Amino acid sequence: MDLEQLSRLCEAVVEKEDWAELARRAEPPPALRLNARRGHHESEFGWTAKQARQRGEQALDEGKVGVLMTAGGQGSRLGFDRPKGLYPIGPVSGASLLQIHIEKIRAAARRHQKSIPLYLMNSPVTAEEQSAFLAENDYFGMTEKDIFLFCQGTMPVVDAVTGDLLLATKDTLFLSPDGHGGTVAALATSGAIESMRERGIEQLFYFQVDNPLVPICDAEFIGHHLKAKSELTSMAVAKKQPIDKVGNFVQIDRRLQIIEYSDFPADVAAQRTEDGALQFWAGSIAVHMFSVDFLERSLSLSGALPFHAARKKVTHLGEEGKVVQPNQPNALKFERFIFDLLPHAQNALVVEYAEEDCFAPLKNAPGAERDTAEYVQRFMIHQHHRWLQEAGIQVARDVAVEISPLWALDEREVARRATPGTAINQTTYLCEGVPRSA
Ligand code: UD1
Repeated sequence: MDLEQLSRLCEAVVEKEDWAELARRAEPPPALRLNARRGHHESEFGWTAKQARQRGEQALDEGKVGVLMTAGGQGSRLGFDRPKGLYPIGPVSGASLLQIHIEKIRAAARRHQKSIPLYLMNSPVTAEEQSAFLAENDYFGMTEKDIFLFCQGTMPVVDAVTGDLLLATKDTLFLSPDGHGGTVAALATSGAIESMRERGIEQLFYFQVDNPLVPICDAEFIGHHLKAKSELTSMAVAKKQPIDKVGNFVQIDRRLQIIEYSDFPADVAAQRTEDGALQFWAGSIAVHMFSVDFLERSLSLSGALPFHAARKKVTHLGEEGKVVQPNQPNALKFERFIFDLLPHAQNALVVEYAEEDCFAPLKNAPGAERDTAEYVQRFMIHQHHRWLQEAGIQVARDVAVEISPLWALDEREVARRATPGTAINQTTYLCEGVPRSA
């Protein structure tokens, strides 16, 4: 444990980054907007969406793409006492988040007839349960050699006033996962990067476990990343409000970066362009393409992944050996954020997708305005209704329909499998083994 680093971090909490000053110098990010993608013409970047998709498909056909999923968070806001990946989110099937993600990877691998390895990051908080769950469920049909489980590091939690280390029990420190920015070091120490090199994996599709709508290995997204010769490409959605609870993509001193909503000043967030749209429109959904070369290079970039401090309520063992249950934030946790690599990446680029196609994260317990299980399931059902209707199938309005990624991964596959003119009038789960006609 690096105690000197820890005391430096505690001191730095007082002289925090001046986000307001930074944000005032910000410009909107270099981005491929949704309308440009949907048109059939070349975008300002010099290629069409179709060309990008073909390029992405080529990389997938060549087996050069892997998947990186982070699933080490504590999920404290959700009020679920197991790791989030185990949450039974499937609105009809009750499939867990992990099952849905793995089925998407299997479906993409089947389509391209190349294996797509999954690098799945746990933390000491989630590792045991999540790994056991996967083993019990035979890795949801994925070959074991295609799943690489690894574990991120931890940081001590300290008292917010004194900087003293907090105890979890009489003989253990209170430790907390070191943030998804811990992925980079953990990839190296676990041997994951070596495994990528051996398998010829050159690009990684990154996402967080909490979002079942994520279009894993979307060929067009991969293609934009490759055509731009970008080291790090991010998927964005257009924010609806100035302060939506997502990170904001901005460009400062010609470098792309993310400023979290909690640090983004309200007056800057409220700025509008002449046509009334939000100037800082690009919200991060935490989906990125990384080049493996860049991840490896970033290991040697000193200071590229600074620690961010967060004040949290932490129940711990006090000096008298009794449990202390605070009512106010009493502790500092230190986390690294993987998106802090953005300013260091060559040709970093943002690509806009429609929210309904890519983002419904499970974050909150019932009762919250959004990002609850009910909210996420509504998005999933809506997407599947849409795909079926576009394929010419009539779906009764209030009927829950869920499509397993192994039945159809996207709207194009639905269109190929479904028989136009048929109808769905009852709760339905379309999964492998179901006759081709809906
Ligand atoms: C995060 C992003 C935000 C983005 C939003 C999209 C941060 C700081 N902010 O917000 O910009 O708009 O997602 O949903 O990330 N995780 C680990 N290890 C850790 C901590 C987190 O693996 O040590 C994983 C979690 O399992 C989770 C994900 O990272 O899946 C996100 O972490 P969370 O703390 O929930 O971030 P948000 O505040 O939701």
